[in-house]
Amino acid sequence: MIGLCVNVDHIATIRQARRGEEPDPVQAALLAELAGASGITVHLREDRRHIQDRDVELLRRLVKTKLNLEMAVTEEMLQIALVLKPEMTTLVPERREELTTEGGLDVHGHVDEVDRAVRRLREGGIAVSLFIDPDHDQVSAAARARADFVELHTGSYAEARGRKAQEAQLTRLIQAARAGRELGLGVNAGHGLDYRNVGPIAAIPEVEELSIGHSIIARAVLVGLEQAVREMLAAIGTAGTVCDPRHSSCEERRW
Ligand code: PXP
Repeated sequence: MIGLCVNVDHIATIRQARRGEEPDPVQAALLAELAGASGITVHLREDRRHIQDRDVELLRRLVKTKLNLEMAVTEEMLQIALVLKPEMTTLVPERREELTTEGGLDVHGHVDEVDRAVRRLREGGIAVSLFIDPDHDQVSAAARARADFVELHTGSYAEARGRKAQEAQLTRLIQAARAGRELGLGVNAGHGLDYRNVGPIAAIPEVEELSIGHSIIARAVLVGLEQAVREMLAAIGTAGTVCDPRHSSCEERRW
């Protein structure tokens, strides 16, 4: 059954608008878990524009399902992750001027560098996912870099206009998911998914977990976070399962 990792960065974005204490992404994470999320994702950016170090430290202590730390491949972030020990890290590209993560990590072009980062994180007991565009070259490079998972970037699918264009992007994702599984990788997906477009992605058999932020938090502003999470779980057709980042049972989640 497919899991839902809820990204609570936008809760921190609202807090940082006033540099105050509310709303608290940690409280939001706990509510999302109560509503059935299988994990919590936060992106600790180099510029700390939303999530702060205090958030990840508290989340590490309080999240009961799975903490997925999105991070750039930098020495600073590697050191933070190795001390924090989230269940999973998702390595993403990061540019200061972007509004959100644009494009996947170019693993194909930087296989050695990514491989070194993956090795350090895995030696620290942390599962590693690589956020990549759904292209064969990137998937096979992710396997060469010995990642545990790939997170397939669904942004082009979400932005495609018209049935034909959307189907073409869906086909790319289906093929990349299949290739990932054949290469022994776990397959997740995310970016730009919402209540209307999530169905076909959730139906890809290889996809184990979806990472969704903006659409859930946007809806939460109107109906409350727990309801927004439950509605997303209904949209992806699951009652909310706790997925293990290494394919074993929920109880064996920590290692
Ligand atoms: N996955 C990754 C790697 C991301 O960077 C983001 C955005 O922070 C998401 C998923 C969630 O995207 P969205 O907020 O559009 O649901």
